[in-house]
Amino acid sequence: MNASVVGSGYVGTTLAACLADLGHDVLAVDVDRDVVDRLNDGDAPIHEPGLQPLLDAYVGSRLEATTEHDRITDTELTFLAVGTPAKDDGSLDAGGLLAAARDVGSAIADTDGYHLVVVKSTVLPDVIESELVPAIESAAGKTDGEEFGVAVNPEFLREGTAVDDFMNPDRIVVGTDGDHRALDLFADLYEPLVAEWEVPVVETGRREAAMIKYASNAFLAAKVSLINDIGNVCKEFGVDTYEVADAMGLDDRIGAKFLASGVGWGGSCFPKDTAALVAAARAVDYNPAMLQAAIDVNDRQPERMLALLDDHVDVAGERVAVLGLSFKPGTDDIRGSRAIPVIEGLQARGAEVVAYDPLAIEAMAAVRPDVEYAESAADALADAVGVCVVTDWPAFEDLDCEFDAMAEPVVVDGRRIIQRREGITYEGLTW
Ligand code: UGA
Repeated sequence: MNASVVGSGYVGTTLAACLADLGHDVLAVDVDRDVVDRLNDGDAPIHEPGLQPLLDAYVGSRLEATTEHDRITDTELTFLAVGTPAKDDGSLDAGGLLAAARDVGSAIADTDGYHLVVVKSTVLPDVIESELVPAIESAAGKTDGEEFGVAVNPEFLREGTAVDDFMNPDRIVVGTDGDHRALDLFADLYEPLVAEWEVPVVETGRREAAMIKYASNAFLAAKVSLINDIGNVCKEFGVDTYEVADAMGLDDRIGAKFLASGVGWGGSCFPKDTAALVAAARAVDYNPAMLQAAIDVNDRQPERMLALLDDHVDVAGERVAVLGLSFKPGTDDIRGSRAIPVIEGLQARGAEVVAYDPLAIEAMAAVRPDVEYAESAADALADAVGVCVVTDWPAFEDLDCEFDAMAEPVVVDGRRIIQRREGITYEGLTW
C-alpha cells in the first residue's frame, strides 16, 4: 500500500518507519524542512531503540520525507500524527492538528476517488467531530463519508519501546463508524501484523476509539498513582510497598504491570492526557474526582521525596545530586519528568544542584541552564550531601563505592534502583 504520515515527531516517525517495515511505501510529511532533510538523510530525529535500523533499511526505497502536503494524493490514506499539547489550563491545544487537517483537506480538494484520513494523534472525541472533520470538509470542499473518510486509530506506543510495541501490539483499535472503505484499507494496512500475531482488531466508532486512548492512559496513570498513594501509607507504617505490590500483582484482576511505586509518572502523554480529560469533563460540568486525585498524588510525590531528604540533612547552601533527568529510562525525553519539580524543590531550599543522566543532559540543560551537569554519576555524587534518584536507569543499580565520595551519603531512592549498602543512609520513597 501507499500511505502518508503527517507529522514527524515521536509517533509519526516511528509509525512511518514501522509501516515501511510492514512492506508499505510511506511518505512522511512535515512542515519543518530540517526534520525532513534529516529523515531523507536517514538520520533518526529522535532517540528510539530500533528506529535507526529501520531508517537505514528503508530511507531511499520505501520511505521518503517531504514538506509538500499535496503529495499525499499519491497515497491511499494519510495519518495525522501531529502533537496535541496542553494549554496552560491543561485543556487540549488542537491548533497544530487542525492546521494539518486543513492542509490535508486542501491537498485532496482536486482529487477523484476516496482518500482516508486517519487520526493517530491523541485528541478528544468532540474535537474530532466538531472541529477536525469540518476543517477537512471546508478545506477540501468535500463531504466526510462520501469523497473522503475520517477514521481514528490511536497509538499505544511507549517511548523507549515504541518500535517493539508497534510490531507486537496487544490490540489494534480502528474507529470508523462502520465505513467499509476505511475498514478494507485498515485490513490491508495491518494484515502483516494481524496475520503473524493474531492481534485482536477492535472495530468501533470514532468517538469510542478516541476515548479508548484517553481511558487507557488515564487508567494506567491512576494505577500508578493508587500504588503510590498506598505506598505513602506503607512508608508511614514501615511496610515495604514492593512486597505488597508483588503479591497484589498475582491477582489476575489487578495484574503485575504499572505497580512500580515511587516518584511518579511523567512523559509527554500521562500528564497531558489526564489534564485534558479533567478539563474536558469540567467543561461539561462533571467533576472527575478519581482522575483529579491521580494527578494530585502524582504532583505530591516529588515533594515527599524532598521531605525524606530534609529528615536527614539541611541542604541550604549544600551540593545535592540528582540522578536521572529523563521521564523514564531509555529515552532523552524530559517532558513531564519528575526531575523538574525535584530540581525546583532543591533550588527553593537553597541547594546547589548537580545532575547526571546518561542521555538527557542536553535536553535538561536547555530548560535548566542554572543546574550543574556532571559527566558521570560518580562525579555528581562527589561532595554532595544527598542524592535524589529520579529515573531507574539500569546503570544506577551498579553504583557502589561511588557513594563513598559523598560529603554525607544520604540516598533518597525514588525508583528502587539503588542497592542498599553499608555506609549510606538509604531512604526508599515508598518502602
Ligand atoms: C504511555 C503509555 O504507556 C502508552 O501506552 C501510550 O501510547 C503513550 O503513553 C502515549 O500516549 O503515547 P509513555 O509515556 O512512553 O507511554 O511511558 P510509560 O512507560 O507508560 O511510563 C509513563 C510514566 O509512568 C513514566 O514516568 C514511568 O516512570 C511511570 N511509571 C510507569 C511508574 O512510575 N510506575 C510504573 O509501574 C509504570
